[in-house]
Amino acid sequence: MLAVGVLLAGPVATAVAHASLVSSVPAEGSSVQQSPATVVLTFGENPDPRLSLVRLIDAAGRTVPGVSAVQAVPGKPLALQVTLSRTLGQGVCSVNWRSVSAVDGHVDSGAFAFGVGVTPAPGSVRTVDLLYTSVQTTVLSTIGRWLLYAGLALFVGAAFICLLVFGGRLPAGGALVLRVAITLAFVGLCALVWAERALVGAQSLLPLFETTEGQYLLALGVALAVCVGAVVCVDLWPARWSIVYLGAAGAVAMLVHVLAGHADAPSSLRLVNVAVQWVHMVGIGVWVGGLAWLLLGIRGMTKADRAAAVGAFSRIATVALVVVLVTGLTRGLVEVGSPANLFDTGYGIALLAKIGLVAVLVALGALNHFRAVPALGRGAGVRSFALNSRGELAVAAAVLAVTAVLSGLVPASSAVASKVSSAASRATLSNRDQAPAVQGVSLRPASTAKPGLVVSGATSPGSTTLCLGDVSDGSSREAR
Ligand code: HEM
Repeated sequence: MLAVGVLLAGPVATAVAHASLVSSVPAEGSSVQQSPATVVLTFGENPDPRLSLVRLIDAAGRTVPGVSAVQAVPGKPLALQVTLSRTLGQGVCSVNWRSVSAVDGHVDSGAFAFGVGVTPAPGSVRTVDLLYTSVQTTVLSTIGRWLLYAGLALFVGAAFICLLVFGGRLPAGGALVLRVAITLAFVGLCALVWAERALVGAQSLLPLFETTEGQYLLALGVALAVCVGAVVCVDLWPARWSIVYLGAAGAVAMLVHVLAGHADAPSSLRLVNVAVQWVHMVGIGVWVGGLAWLLLGIRGMTKADRAAAVGAFSRIATVALVVVLVTGLTRGLVEVGSPANLFDTGYGIALLAKIGLVAVLVALGALNHFRAVPALGRGAGVRSFALNSRGELAVAAAVLAVTAVLSGLVPASSAVASKVSSAASRATLSNRDQAPAVQGVSLRPASTAKPGLVVSGATSPGSTTLCLGDVSDGSSREAR
């Protein structure tokens, strides 16, 4: 399952990432009379200047000398620039760029050409590879997220189930399971750190930790260290308060993780998205992590105690299931944007796969709730309950694996929006060759089913309306 997911993630994650290029000065395909003093690139999401790269290549394929390191543009967090200390001679210049999103560490790259005194012919772009992505880094970060989810779910599940089902006690073998949980989370974190270091091409860990993504990984490390403290507390003082601390530490670590993911992307609903995503993760801890603890805790119980514990868990899990479904669907709506994106984007397809698996999970849960749990109440059905529950845990592990893939992909709505805005900038700029210039440009999607857009605005001089049809691929351009 994970392998299939990673195969799906590989090409998509590297082909369209978050900080995608929206516009540039000089513009793609444009011709400037004099050598520019700076090249400014504007992205769809804040790029990290310390990890992003820009290299200029001349028509002979040589790196243009005298180009500064990438700098932030004051007051424009979406832009990056390089300054040129030497003038470019007449001819075509290719701009190769690699951006690392300051929001979620995703990497993107591309190249375009502009001309000094000449108009670049189609296909004249000279490209160099500035990417360090590989299947290995994608696999590593996906596995890292998967292990992290599993470890944190066990933490949160321990607190809820031990407090609400086992009377505030850790079941026999619980100390070992907590050690396994914290190990899973730490191994996951190490995989994420290693993958990110490789992805951004940092030679050592130090420069990585100076970046936004690196600081998130550091914060997660601190949160996991607090979780270790909670495990020690539960060992030394097995009481209700230490179990509450355990659950709180796991939930805080989940929040730190959510604050570095898609939910925290700039939006007017940012706080709501973060809250919904966090509740989603906590709900998974209660339901899936809790089920693992239930199976551990009911071993060796009397029939009556077992039936009572399973009954209590079943009620808690039902509430958690509803919370997970409602929050998951809400997050899905936000990240996918429109039904068409479900089928057109890697993110949408991964989400559909996840929903399919969740349906199996819900069916197994319902089987337990409506058949196995009442049977346990009558003193029967122990074997079928155990089998069903193990199946539920296996499917939940598969759901977590698909989720690990999903959160490494560009959300469908961002991928389409980025495509649209970059098409818009090309459309606006390409009107230069038909002067007069366009002013007051407005955009609207061509249709929800097809990622194109209509650009309209007034030309100057005069007030003609310019309308460009589906320009996402530059194929059907019309002006009137
Ligand atoms: C109808 C059911 C569900 C839907 C529609 C759904 C949808 C989503 C969406 C859209 C995200 C955001 C992913 C991102 O872009 O970062 C997410 C996150 C997540 N989901 Fe679900 N989900 C559902 C059920 C579940 C279940 C049953 C599980 C676990 C067994 C699960 C585990 C997770 C986890 C761990 C995250 C956190 C991802 C991250 O922040 O790295 N989801 N879910």
